Amino acid sequence: MMNQTALITGGASGIGKETALKLASRGVTVVISGRREELGAEAVKEIEAVATGGARIRFIHNDVTSEADVKAMIEQIVAEFGRLDMAVNNAGISNETASVDLSDSSKFQAMVETNILGLYYCQKYEVQQMLKQGKGSIVNLASIAGINGMPWAGTYAATKHAVAGLTKSSALDHAAQGLRINGVAPGAVKTDIIAAQLDGSDPNYNEDVISAMHPMNRLGVPGEIANGIAWLLSDEASFVTGHILTIDGGFTAK
Ligand SMILES: NC(=O)c1ccc[n+]([C@@H]2O[C@H](COP(=O)([O-])OP(=O)(O)OC[C@H]3O[C@@H](n4cnc5c(N)ncnc54)[C@H](OP(=O)(O)O)[C@@H]3O)[C@@H](O)[C@H]2O)c1
Repeated sequence: MMNQTALITGGASGIGKETALKLASRGVTVVISGRREELGAEAVKEIEAVATGGARIRFIHNDVTSEADVKAMIEQIVAEFGRLDMAVNNAGISNETASVDLSDSSKFQAMVETNILGLYYCQKYEVQQMLKQGKGSIVNLASIAGINGMPWAGTYAATKHAVAGLTKSSALDHAAQGLRINGVAPGAVKTDIIAAQLDGSDPNYNEDVISAMHPMNRLGVPGEIANGIAWLLSDEASFVTGHILTIDGGFTAK
């Protein structure tokens, strides 16, 4: 993976940061993006500490809900590093647990803007660049809620089903053009995104309930998801496209 450049949106925390650490340790130049500058600066230091082979690490302050800013971010990466070999469209939010009839429309709108439109903007400009290169690998973060139904999470599940549809369809569009586009569908993983479900403040979920939903009876850890993302990004997965890789302790086998 040496001499390659990767973008990881939302790469300053959780699954994205773990993926950045893995790629940088394999010599990949990594750009992480997000809205929190300070968190980004701290993550860059952490990732630089494990980087090998002259890999460079950058944070770009970026909100994926702005198409113009996403386009400018891709241009900035190409201006500095000359190319974009890999992209992980990982930025996402989960802001409510409720049945759809009782859900807050504005919260759903925010999830649509981030999880669907934001990912769409990123993939659109990544693909445009990768087509110029004739090669590229993209991994989109779906979820087990993008494959199965999820109690109290219909609105989030709707956005993640959209990610799976966009991923598989785009893979078909570009399969013969040197691009591979895959998804990863994690089960519940201990990160900030499910903090409210783990700190006891969510009436619908707690750690025991979430663990019991998974046949392995536990949550995943970010490194277990990063392993799958890194594999899909790499040439080891050279005949894999349009695949949604579940990493979920058996959740979707039920
Ligand atoms: N953890 C799980 O149980 C789980 C399960 C299935 C799927 N996933 C998916 O995995 C992905 C990563 O989540 P995570 O678990 O690692 O949680 P996380 O630590 O909260 O990571 C989400 C990242 O997305 C960034 N982000 C959110 N909105 C953004 C925006 N508008 N523009 C740019 N960046 C934005 C956040 O940074 P800023 O706030 O600084 O912008 C944050 O770094 C998400 O797509 C999530 O839906 C997670």
